[in-house]
Amino acid sequence: MSSMWNNGIKISIFGESHGNGIGVVLDNVPCGQNIDFDKILEFMARRAPGDEKTSTKRKEKDFPEIMSGILNDQTTGAPICAVIRNTDTRSGDYGNISALARPGHADYTGNLRYKGFNDVRGGGHFSGRLTAPLVFAGAVCGQILEQHGIVVGAHISSIKDITDVNFDAVRVSKEDILTVRAKKFPVIDDNVEQKMLNKIEKARLEADSVGGIIECCTIGFPAGVGSPMFDGIENTIASIIFGIPAVKGLEFGAGFSASQLYGSQNNDELYVDEAGTIKTETNHHGGILGGISSGMPITLKVAFKPTPSIGKEQNTIDYRNLSNEKLIIKGRHDPCVVVRAVPVVESGVNIALLSELLNCPNYSF
Ligand SMILES: Cc1cc2nc3c(=O)[nH]c(=O)nc-3n(C[C@H](O)[C@H](O)[C@H](O)COP(=O)(O)O)c2cc1C
Repeated sequence: MSSMWNNGIKISIFGESHGNGIGVVLDNVPCGQNIDFDKILEFMARRAPGDEKTSTKRKEKDFPEIMSGILNDQTTGAPICAVIRNTDTRSGDYGNISALARPGHADYTGNLRYKGFNDVRGGGHFSGRLTAPLVFAGAVCGQILEQHGIVVGAHISSIKDITDVNFDAVRVSKEDILTVRAKKFPVIDDNVEQKMLNKIEKARLEADSVGGIIECCTIGFPAGVGSPMFDGIENTIASIIFGIPAVKGLEFGAGFSASQLYGSQNNDELYVDEAGTIKTETNHHGGILGGISSGMPITLKVAFKPTPSIGKEQNTIDYRNLSNEKLIIKGRHDPCVVVRAVPVVESGVNIALLSELLNCPNYSF
Protein backbone atom coordinates (compact mmCIF):
# COMPACT_ATOMS: atom_id res chain seq x y z
CA MET A 1 0.00 0.00 0.00
CA SER A 2 1.31 3.43 -0.79
CA SER A 3 -0.23 6.58 0.62
CA MET A 4 2.31 9.07 -0.66
CA TRP A 5 1.61 12.42 -2.23
CA ASN A 6 4.54 13.96 -4.03
CA ASN A 7 4.45 17.56 -5.16
CA GLY A 8 6.35 20.63 -3.86
CA ILE A 9 5.61 19.13 -0.46
CA LYS A 10 5.84 15.36 -0.14
CA ILE A 11 3.66 13.56 2.39
CA SER A 12 3.60 9.91 3.32
CA ILE A 13 0.80 8.71 5.60
CA PHE A 14 1.18 5.47 7.55
CA GLY A 15 -0.79 3.36 9.99
CA GLU A 16 -4.04 1.48 10.38
CA SER A 17 -7.14 2.33 12.39
CA HIS A 18 -6.63 -0.36 15.04
CA GLY A 19 -2.83 -0.72 14.88
CA ASN A 20 -0.47 0.87 17.41
CA GLY A 21 -0.55 4.25 15.77
CA ILE A 22 -0.84 6.38 12.65
CA GLY A 23 1.28 9.25 11.38
CA VAL A 24 2.84 11.27 8.62
CA VAL A 25 6.22 12.22 7.22
CA LEU A 26 6.35 15.63 5.53
CA ASP A 27 9.29 16.38 3.22
CA ASN A 28 10.49 19.63 1.62
CA VAL A 29 8.95 21.99 4.19
CA PRO A 30 11.13 25.13 4.06
CA CYS A 31 13.43 25.64 7.06
CA GLY A 32 13.06 28.47 9.57
CA GLN A 33 9.23 28.61 9.51
CA ASN A 34 7.56 29.33 12.85
CA ILE A 35 5.26 26.56 14.09
CA ASP A 36 2.99 27.02 17.11
CA PHE A 37 2.33 23.55 18.57
CA ASP A 38 -0.75 24.67 20.54
CA LYS A 39 -2.30 25.94 17.31
CA ILE A 40 -1.61 22.54 15.69
CA LEU A 41 -3.51 20.87 18.56
CA GLU A 42 -6.41 23.34 18.21
CA PHE A 43 -6.61 22.66 14.47
CA MET A 44 -6.50 18.88 14.96
CA ALA A 45 -9.17 19.03 17.70
CA ARG A 46 -11.65 20.25 15.06
CA ARG A 47 -11.34 16.86 13.30
CA ALA A 48 -11.13 14.60 16.35
CA PRO A 49 -14.34 12.76 17.29
CA GLY A 50 -16.10 14.58 20.09
CA ASP A 51 -19.76 15.36 19.63
CA GLU A 52 -21.62 12.20 20.59
CA LYS A 53 -24.44 12.86 18.15
CA THR A 54 -22.68 13.89 14.95
CA SER A 55 -19.60 11.70 15.21
CA THR A 56 -18.32 8.27 16.21
CA LYS A 57 -18.23 7.56 19.94
CA ARG A 58 -14.62 6.44 19.62
CA LYS A 59 -12.56 8.67 21.95
CA GLU A 60 -9.10 9.53 20.67
CA LYS A 61 -6.92 12.38 21.92
CA ASP A 62 -5.17 12.65 18.54
CA PHE A 63 -2.01 13.94 20.18
CA PRO A 64 0.80 14.18 17.59
CA GLU A 65 4.21 13.19 18.95
CA ILE A 66 6.77 15.08 16.88
CA MET A 67 9.74 12.85 16.09
CA SER A 68 11.73 15.21 13.89
CA GLY A 69 11.79 18.35 11.79
CA ILE A 70 10.59 20.93 14.34
CA LEU A 71 12.95 22.34 16.99
CA ASN A 72 12.35 25.33 19.25
CA ASP A 73 9.07 26.04 17.41
CA GLN A 74 10.77 26.29 14.02
CA THR A 75 11.10 23.94 11.07
CA THR A 76 14.64 22.59 10.77
CA GLY A 77 14.41 21.59 7.08
CA ALA A 78 14.63 17.87 7.99
CA PRO A 79 11.59 15.65 7.25
CA ILE A 80 8.85 16.41 9.79
CA CYS A 81 7.52 13.19 11.31
CA ALA A 82 4.51 13.01 13.65
CA VAL A 83 3.09 9.88 15.27
CA ILE A 84 -0.39 9.61 16.80
CA ARG A 85 -1.03 6.61 19.04
CA ASN A 86 -4.29 4.67 18.72
CA THR A 87 -5.72 4.24 22.19
CA ASP A 88 -9.48 3.53 21.99
CA THR A 89 -9.67 0.50 19.68
CA ARG A 90 -12.45 -2.09 20.01
CA SER A 91 -11.54 -4.59 17.33
CA GLY A 92 -14.13 -7.12 18.54
CA ASP A 93 -16.78 -5.00 16.82
CA TYR A 94 -15.32 -6.05 13.48
CA GLY A 95 -15.54 -9.81 14.06
CA ASN A 96 -18.64 -10.29 11.92
CA ILE A 97 -17.42 -8.23 8.98
CA SER A 98 -13.97 -9.67 8.45
CA ALA A 99 -15.24 -11.62 5.42
CA LEU A 100 -18.48 -9.70 4.85
CA ALA A 101 -18.00 -6.65 2.65
CA ARG A 102 -19.59 -3.50 4.04
CA PRO A 103 -21.59 -1.98 1.16
CA GLY A 104 -20.11 1.42 0.25
CA HIS A 105 -16.84 0.75 2.12
CA ALA A 106 -13.52 -0.43 0.71
CA ASP A 107 -13.64 -3.91 2.31
CA TYR A 108 -14.33 -5.77 -0.96
CA THR A 109 -11.95 -3.80 -3.20
CA GLY A 110 -9.23 -3.71 -0.51
CA ASN A 111 -9.50 -7.48 -0.10
CA LEU A 112 -9.11 -7.99 -3.86
CA ARG A 113 -6.19 -5.60 -4.19
CA TYR A 114 -4.24 -6.84 -1.15
CA LYS A 115 -5.20 -10.52 -1.47
CA GLY A 116 -6.93 -10.61 1.91
CA PHE A 117 -3.81 -9.58 3.86
CA ASN A 118 -5.08 -6.05 4.59
CA ASP A 119 -6.09 -5.18 8.17
CA VAL A 120 -9.88 -4.74 8.09
CA ARG A 121 -10.23 -3.73 11.76
CA GLY A 122 -11.82 -0.28 11.84
CA GLY A 123 -11.34 -0.03 8.06
CA GLY A 124 -7.54 -0.49 8.46
CA HIS A 125 -5.64 1.90 6.20
CA PHE A 126 -8.92 2.93 4.48
CA SER A 127 -10.31 4.41 7.70
CA GLY A 128 -11.34 8.05 8.07
CA ARG A 129 -8.95 7.96 11.05
CA LEU A 130 -6.07 8.29 8.59
CA THR A 131 -7.19 11.88 8.03
CA ALA A 132 -5.75 12.78 11.48
CA PRO A 133 -2.14 12.76 10.18
CA LEU A 134 -3.32 14.55 7.03
CA VAL A 135 -4.72 17.27 9.29
CA PHE A 136 -1.41 17.47 11.18
CA ALA A 137 0.33 18.08 7.83
CA GLY A 138 -2.37 20.59 6.86
CA ALA A 139 -1.97 22.46 10.15
CA VAL A 140 1.78 22.86 9.59
CA CYS A 141 1.32 24.04 5.98
CA GLY A 142 -1.57 26.34 6.99
CA GLN A 143 0.56 28.10 9.60
CA ILE A 144 3.27 28.73 7.00
CA LEU A 145 0.72 30.06 4.47
CA GLU A 146 -0.75 32.41 7.09
CA GLN A 147 2.70 33.86 7.79
CA HIS A 148 2.72 34.73 4.08
CA GLY A 149 -0.72 36.40 4.25
CA ILE A 150 -2.66 33.45 2.78
CA VAL A 151 -5.75 32.35 4.72
CA VAL A 152 -7.74 29.18 4.00
CA GLY A 153 -11.10 28.38 5.61
CA ALA A 154 -14.06 26.09 5.03
CA HIS A 155 -17.63 25.65 6.22
CA ILE A 156 -20.43 23.13 5.93
CA SER A 157 -22.23 24.19 2.77
CA SER A 158 -24.91 21.48 3.07
CA ILE A 159 -25.97 18.41 5.00
CA LYS A 160 -28.24 16.37 2.73
CA ASP A 161 -30.82 18.95 1.53
CA ILE A 162 -30.20 21.62 4.23
CA THR A 163 -27.98 24.39 2.86
CA ASP A 164 -25.87 27.19 4.31
CA VAL A 165 -25.16 30.44 2.40
CA ASN A 166 -21.94 30.56 0.35
CA PHE A 167 -18.85 32.68 0.96
CA ASP A 168 -19.01 35.88 -1.10
CA ALA A 169 -16.63 34.71 -3.85
CA VAL A 170 -15.49 38.28 -4.63
CA ARG A 171 -15.51 40.13 -1.32
CA VAL A 172 -14.82 37.36 1.25
CA SER A 173 -12.54 38.76 3.97
CA LYS A 174 -10.05 37.30 6.43
CA GLU A 175 -12.55 38.04 9.20
CA ASP A 176 -15.31 36.08 7.38
CA ILE A 177 -13.01 33.05 7.17
CA LEU A 178 -11.71 33.28 10.76
CA THR A 179 -15.23 33.74 12.16
CA VAL A 180 -16.58 30.54 10.62
CA ARG A 181 -13.36 28.64 11.34
CA ALA A 182 -13.74 29.41 15.06
CA LYS A 183 -17.24 27.87 15.28
CA LYS A 184 -17.73 24.41 16.76
CA PHE A 185 -20.32 23.75 14.07
CA PRO A 186 -18.90 25.73 11.15
CA VAL A 187 -21.77 27.30 9.20
CA ILE A 188 -21.97 30.92 8.04
CA ASP A 189 -25.70 31.26 8.76
CA ASP A 190 -26.23 30.11 12.37
CA ASN A 191 -29.93 29.56 11.65
CA VAL A 192 -29.18 26.40 9.66
CA GLU A 193 -27.11 24.76 12.43
CA GLN A 194 -30.05 23.19 14.28
CA LYS A 195 -31.72 22.04 11.05
CA MET A 196 -28.51 20.30 10.00
CA LEU A 197 -28.05 18.76 13.45
CA ASN A 198 -31.65 17.48 13.33
CA LYS A 199 -30.99 15.90 9.93
CA ILE A 200 -27.91 14.09 11.27
CA GLU A 201 -29.68 13.02 14.46
CA LYS A 202 -32.67 11.66 12.53
CA ALA A 203 -30.32 9.57 10.38
CA ARG A 204 -28.47 8.33 13.49
CA LEU A 205 -31.69 7.31 15.24
CA GLU A 206 -32.78 5.45 12.10
CA ALA A 207 -29.41 3.59 12.01
CA ASP A 208 -28.68 5.47 8.78
CA SER A 209 -26.26 8.18 7.64
CA VAL A 210 -26.16 11.39 5.57
CA GLY A 211 -23.59 13.20 3.40
CA GLY A 212 -23.07 16.80 2.41
CA ILE A 213 -20.89 19.46 0.83
CA ILE A 214 -18.01 21.55 2.22
CA GLU A 215 -17.12 24.91 0.66
CA CYS A 216 -13.51 26.10 1.00
CA CYS A 217 -12.13 29.53 0.26
CA THR A 218 -8.58 30.95 0.13
CA ILE A 219 -7.66 34.62 0.18
CA GLY A 220 -4.29 36.31 -0.23
CA PHE A 221 -2.92 33.73 -2.65
CA PRO A 222 -0.69 35.61 -5.12
CA ALA A 223 -1.64 35.87 -8.80
CA GLY A 224 0.52 34.09 -11.36
CA VAL A 225 1.21 30.80 -9.52
CA GLY A 226 0.49 27.42 -11.16
CA SER A 227 0.94 25.85 -14.59
CA PRO A 228 -1.25 24.91 -17.55
CA MET A 229 -2.74 21.51 -18.33
CA PHE A 230 -1.50 18.75 -16.02
CA ASP A 231 0.22 20.76 -13.28
CA GLY A 232 -2.51 23.33 -12.71
CA ILE A 233 -3.64 24.41 -9.26
CA GLU A 234 -6.96 22.59 -9.81
CA ASN A 235 -5.08 19.35 -10.59
CA THR A 236 -2.88 19.67 -7.50
CA ILE A 237 -5.82 20.39 -5.19
CA ALA A 238 -7.93 17.62 -6.79
CA SER A 239 -5.22 14.98 -6.36
CA ILE A 240 -5.12 15.57 -2.61
CA ILE A 241 -8.86 16.19 -2.06
CA PHE A 242 -9.72 12.87 -3.72
CA GLY A 243 -7.34 11.25 -1.24
CA ILE A 244 -9.86 12.06 1.51
CA PRO A 245 -12.10 9.04 2.16
CA ALA A 246 -15.78 9.48 1.18
CA VAL A 247 -15.12 12.37 -1.26
CA LYS A 248 -17.10 11.85 -4.46
CA GLY A 249 -17.16 15.28 -6.10
CA LEU A 250 -15.17 18.51 -6.44
CA GLU A 251 -15.93 21.73 -8.28
CA PHE A 252 -14.04 25.02 -8.59
CA GLY A 253 -15.76 28.41 -8.78
CA ALA A 254 -19.17 28.14 -10.46
CA GLY A 255 -18.30 24.49 -11.26
CA PHE A 256 -21.10 22.41 -12.76
CA SER A 257 -23.53 25.35 -12.72
CA ALA A 258 -21.24 27.26 -15.18
CA SER A 259 -22.33 24.77 -17.83
CA GLN A 260 -25.82 26.31 -17.69
CA LEU A 261 -24.66 29.90 -18.25
CA TYR A 262 -23.96 31.87 -21.44
CA GLY A 263 -20.36 33.00 -21.94
CA SER A 264 -21.55 36.56 -21.40
CA GLN A 265 -22.87 35.54 -17.97
CA ASN A 266 -19.97 33.31 -16.94
CA ASN A 267 -17.03 35.48 -18.05
CA ASP A 268 -15.54 37.46 -15.17
CA GLU A 269 -14.84 40.96 -16.49
CA LEU A 270 -11.47 42.46 -15.53
CA TYR A 271 -10.72 45.87 -14.07
CA VAL A 272 -7.95 47.72 -12.20
CA ASP A 273 -8.90 48.92 -8.69
CA GLU A 274 -7.82 52.17 -6.95
CA ALA A 275 -4.68 50.45 -5.61
CA GLY A 276 -3.68 49.40 -9.14
CA THR A 277 -4.49 45.72 -8.59
CA ILE A 278 -6.07 43.70 -11.41
CA LYS A 279 -9.33 42.10 -10.26
CA THR A 280 -12.49 40.59 -11.72
CA GLU A 281 -16.04 41.88 -11.15
CA THR A 282 -17.36 38.37 -10.52
CA ASN A 283 -15.54 35.16 -9.62
CA HIS A 284 -17.10 32.26 -11.53
CA HIS A 285 -13.56 31.06 -12.32
CA GLY A 286 -12.90 30.44 -8.60
CA GLY A 287 -9.54 32.23 -8.64
CA ILE A 288 -7.93 29.89 -11.22
CA LEU A 289 -7.63 30.43 -15.00
CA GLY A 290 -5.53 28.09 -17.16
CA GLY A 291 -4.35 26.31 -14.01
CA ILE A 292 -2.81 29.60 -12.79
CA SER A 293 -4.02 31.77 -9.90
CA SER A 294 -5.70 35.08 -10.84
CA GLY A 295 -5.34 36.70 -7.40
CA MET A 296 -9.11 36.42 -6.76
CA PRO A 297 -10.27 34.17 -3.88
CA ILE A 298 -9.79 30.47 -4.70
CA THR A 299 -13.17 28.81 -4.14
CA LEU A 300 -14.13 25.16 -4.31
CA LYS A 301 -16.79 22.73 -3.11
CA VAL A 302 -16.27 19.11 -2.06
CA ALA A 303 -19.10 16.54 -2.00
CA PHE A 304 -19.04 13.78 0.63
CA LYS A 305 -21.18 10.65 0.39
CA PRO A 306 -23.15 9.37 3.40
CA THR A 307 -21.04 7.28 5.81
CA PRO A 308 -21.01 3.73 4.42
CA SER A 309 -21.19 1.90 7.79
CA ILE A 310 -24.83 2.01 8.87
CA GLY A 311 -26.75 -0.06 11.42
CA LYS A 312 -29.58 -1.12 9.07
CA GLU A 313 -29.60 -4.66 7.75
CA GLN A 314 -28.06 -4.81 4.25
CA ASN A 315 -27.46 -7.45 1.59
CA THR A 316 -23.84 -8.27 0.92
CA ILE A 317 -21.45 -11.08 0.05
CA ASP A 318 -18.98 -13.19 1.99
CA TYR A 319 -15.91 -12.99 -0.22
CA ARG A 320 -14.32 -16.07 1.31
CA ASN A 321 -17.23 -18.45 0.62
CA LEU A 322 -18.71 -16.47 -2.30
CA SER A 323 -22.11 -16.62 -0.64
CA ASN A 324 -24.91 -14.08 -0.35
CA GLU A 325 -25.36 -12.85 3.22
CA LYS A 326 -27.15 -10.33 5.43
CA LEU A 327 -25.08 -7.80 7.38
CA ILE A 328 -25.82 -5.68 10.43
CA ILE A 329 -22.82 -3.48 11.21
CA LYS A 330 -21.80 -3.02 14.82
CA GLY A 331 -19.02 -0.65 15.86
CA ARG A 332 -18.87 3.10 16.32
CA HIS A 333 -19.41 5.17 13.20
CA ASP A 334 -19.97 8.78 12.21
CA PRO A 335 -23.64 9.26 11.18
CA CYS A 336 -22.22 12.07 9.01
CA VAL A 337 -18.52 12.59 8.23
CA VAL A 338 -18.96 16.13 6.90
CA VAL A 339 -18.66 17.99 10.24
CA ARG A 340 -15.30 16.40 11.06
CA ALA A 341 -14.11 16.69 7.45
CA VAL A 342 -14.11 20.54 7.40
CA PRO A 343 -10.49 20.86 8.67
CA VAL A 344 -9.55 17.88 6.47
CA VAL A 345 -10.59 19.81 3.35
CA GLU A 346 -8.76 22.91 4.62
CA SER A 347 -5.70 20.70 5.15
CA GLY A 348 -5.77 19.34 1.61
CA VAL A 349 -5.96 22.88 0.24
CA ASN A 350 -3.18 24.11 2.60
CA ILE A 351 -0.81 21.35 1.49
CA ALA A 352 -1.64 21.80 -2.21
CA LEU A 353 -1.23 25.60 -2.15
CA LEU A 354 2.04 25.54 -0.21
CA SER A 355 3.29 23.01 -2.76
CA GLU A 356 2.25 25.30 -5.62
CA LEU A 357 4.19 28.20 -4.07
CA LEU A 358 7.29 26.05 -3.58
CA ASN A 359 7.07 24.93 -7.24
CA CYS A 360 6.70 28.46 -8.57
CA PRO A 361 9.90 30.15 -9.81
CA ASN A 362 8.17 33.57 -9.44
CA TYR A 363 7.76 33.14 -5.68
CA SER A 364 10.64 33.12 -3.21
CA PHE A 365 10.39 31.72 0.29
C1 LIG B 1 -13.40 12.21 8.92
C2 LIG B 1 -13.94 10.94 8.32
C3 LIG B 1 -14.56 10.00 9.14
C4 LIG B 1 -15.09 8.83 8.61
N1 LIG B 1 -15.72 7.95 9.45
C5 LIG B 1 -16.29 6.83 8.94
C6 LIG B 1 -16.99 5.92 9.79
O1 LIG B 1 -17.14 6.14 11.00
N2 LIG B 1 -17.52 4.80 9.23
C7 LIG B 1 -17.41 4.53 7.87
O2 LIG B 1 -17.92 3.53 7.40
N3 LIG B 1 -16.77 5.38 7.05
C8 LIG B 1 -16.20 6.51 7.53
N4 LIG B 1 -15.54 7.37 6.69
C9 LIG B 1 -15.55 7.10 5.23
C10 LIG B 1 -14.77 5.87 4.80
O3 LIG B 1 -13.46 5.90 5.32
C11 LIG B 1 -14.75 5.75 3.25
O4 LIG B 1 -16.03 5.91 2.74
C12 LIG B 1 -14.19 4.41 2.81
O5 LIG B 1 -12.82 4.33 3.14
C13 LIG B 1 -14.34 4.14 1.32
O6 LIG B 1 -13.65 5.12 0.58
P1 LIG B 1 -14.41 6.01 -0.50
O7 LIG B 1 -15.73 6.38 0.09
O8 LIG B 1 -13.51 7.20 -0.68
O9 LIG B 1 -14.57 5.20 -1.74
C14 LIG B 1 -14.99 8.57 7.20
C15 LIG B 1 -14.36 9.51 6.37
C16 LIG B 1 -13.85 10.69 6.92
C17 LIG B 1 -13.22 11.72 6.01
